[in-house]
Amino acid sequence: MEKTSFTNNLIKLDCVDSTNEEAFRRAKDIKDYRLAVSSLSQSAGRGRLGRQFLSEESKGIFLSVLENEILNPQITARAAVCVCKVLEEASGISLKIKWPNDIVVDGKKLCGILTEMRNSNVVIGIGINLYNEDFGELTDIATSLRLCGYEADREDLLTRLLIALDNMLDSYEKSKPGDLDYYKVHSCVLDKDIYLISGDEKNPAKAVGLSEDFELIVSDDNNHLRTISSGEVSLRLRT
Ligand code: BTN
Repeated sequence: MEKTSFTNNLIKLDCVDSTNEEAFRRAKDIKDYRLAVSSLSQSAGRGRLGRQFLSEESKGIFLSVLENEILNPQITARAAVCVCKVLEEASGISLKIKWPNDIVVDGKKLCGILTEMRNSNVVIGIGINLYNEDFGELTDIATSLRLCGYEADREDLLTRLLIALDNMLDSYEKSKPGDLDYYKVHSCVLDKDIYLISGDEKNPAKAVGLSEDFELIVSDDNNHLRTISSGEVSLRLRT
């Protein structure tokens, strides 16, 4: 494996509650400033907005990368760009990014990213569906690389992801303009009618742009513009 910050700081587990949680627990042990935790399964994988993240044994990549430094909230979108590039290059499948940080194929979720910050650490948690064949009641909203016709090599993808994430974190400031362009080109919500969902509220809007800080610019029915950060909002396309 190409030498990265993770070469001596990669923890591989069979099972853990959540790789994000494990990365925070191990934060105090790290010799260097970065650490990665990967597990074959998670008993309490978590997603945004307090949701569960389905983490079936050996069916996906469950990876968390810890950076011993607080980065701005753009880190989530930047990580989405990084992961999307790796998955596209490896699989040849055309992927989209659903703001703020889901990677989707034909509207179905392939990968979710959850960034969390505690004390002076940021953890980027990445869950990718590799080998799932049946999502049960989630069939209409979730997919896997296998269902898209690509048989992934888990270890190879993991290596590519760690190299790409390490490079992205190393060149965090410099690579921002390119990432913004890539994000816009790959967005599946820009110029689309959407619903903004926050708790019990569901408001129609149109996604009209992306700010320099990867925030979504939306216009409401009265053409009032508003900038929203990922925070507590989720988004659904109006079809
Ligand atoms: C989302 O879809 O809302 C984000 C899902 C993030 C899931 C990954 S899997 C690895 C890491 N550990 C967790 O508990 N969550 C993230």
